[in-house]
Amino acid sequence: MEERNPGNANANLQNLAVEAHGLVKIFGQHRAVDGVDLRVEAGSVYGVLGPNGAGKTTTISMLATLLRPDAGSAKIFGYDVVKDPHIVRQLIGVTGQYASVDETLSAMENLIIFSRLLGLSRSDARRKAVELLEEFGLTEAAKRPLKKFSGGMRRRLDLAASLIAQPPLIFLDEPTTGLDPRTRAQMWDTIRRLVKTGSTVLLTTQYLDEADQLADRIAVIDHGRVVAEGTVDELKASIGTSSLHLRPEQREHIDEVRRTVDRVLGVQAVVSPEAGKVTAPMLDADKVTDLLIALRESGIRLTEMSVQKPTLDEVFLTITGHGVDHDSTDESGALDGKEAAIS
Ligand SMILES: Nc1ncnc2c1ncn2[C@@H]1O[C@H](COP(=O)(O)OP(=O)(O)OP(=O)(O)O)[C@@H](O)[C@H]1O
Ligand SMILES: [Mg+2]
Repeated sequence: MEERNPGNANANLQNLAVEAHGLVKIFGQHRAVDGVDLRVEAGSVYGVLGPNGAGKTTTISMLATLLRPDAGSAKIFGYDVVKDPHIVRQLIGVTGQYASVDETLSAMENLIIFSRLLGLSRSDARRKAVELLEEFGLTEAAKRPLKKFSGGMRRRLDLAASLIAQPPLIFLDEPTTGLDPRTRAQMWDTIRRLVKTGSTVLLTTQYLDEADQLADRIAVIDHGRVVAEGTVDELKASIGTSSLHLRPEQREHIDEVRRTVDRVLGVQAVVSPEAGKVTAPMLDADKVTDLLIALRESGIRLTEMSVQKPTLDEVFLTITGHGVDHDSTDESGALDGKEAAIS
């Protein structure tokens, strides 16, 4: 009566790593997750994007059988998270906001213990631990007890631990929050490698550029609901075409640049005084040459001219009517050097 035999499962379901319908989780009066639908194709990276408190961790926790949904249903590779939690747990790995390693033991010891728990022989466990420490740049720190690890090192060890078994579906809850740019880029590479070698990754992030870099598809969630879903390009396309960014060498020229853009391109340009630049929708690329000539004739020199696709920040703003609250933001919403966390 239950769909326990993958051989019998509908072919469509087998291609879906996650299929969730109307997931709801209520804490007291608060609907933390309020009817979330998700479909994640096997072999892809799926990004769940949303600000603090949007319901990302709660959603993942239900998919990973750590929280019981109050309504709705979810299947992992065809197995129901409520009816078949034991099978589901064998198919997934969870890392992120719940690190589960022993503080007093060294990184090496932790990885060996995890490997042994997963049934590897003593020599295989050691070999695997050495391999993972190397991959995550932790070889030097292998013998240090975890309590002496920085936040970034912990996060890397946490991911390493979840990779011992390399499960078919890996949940990564904000895998790069608080990491310095270099470690973050390493993490991205690791995630790409996981997918190349056959895993499916569902990650949550507050960083638009991270979803942009990694995810095949994205669900934007806000107040417990999916407010947009699609490929990065689809989401970007939903808010329009490219925009032209111009930065005059002298700030006092900014209004004249705007007037020239309005006149030559026939569009409404926007001045961003803090950024010292003028932005305008680019409807007709051919007219840009005319614009540059007109600016030169007025004696205005530019320090920057670029054509940009809309950022996901702009997408988020358009969809939800409010921006994303970053602790520290630059214009693209990217994590910058200021947020380096490794001490
Ligand atoms: N165990 C809990 N009891 C009560 N409320 C909770 C609990 N867990 C989460 N919440 C609330 O549910 C909402 C969604 O929380 P959740 O942790 O899923 O958000 P999130 O998108 O992961 O946010 P963040 O980016 O900060 O990690 C928040 O308002 C949070 O305060
Ligand atoms: Mg969270």
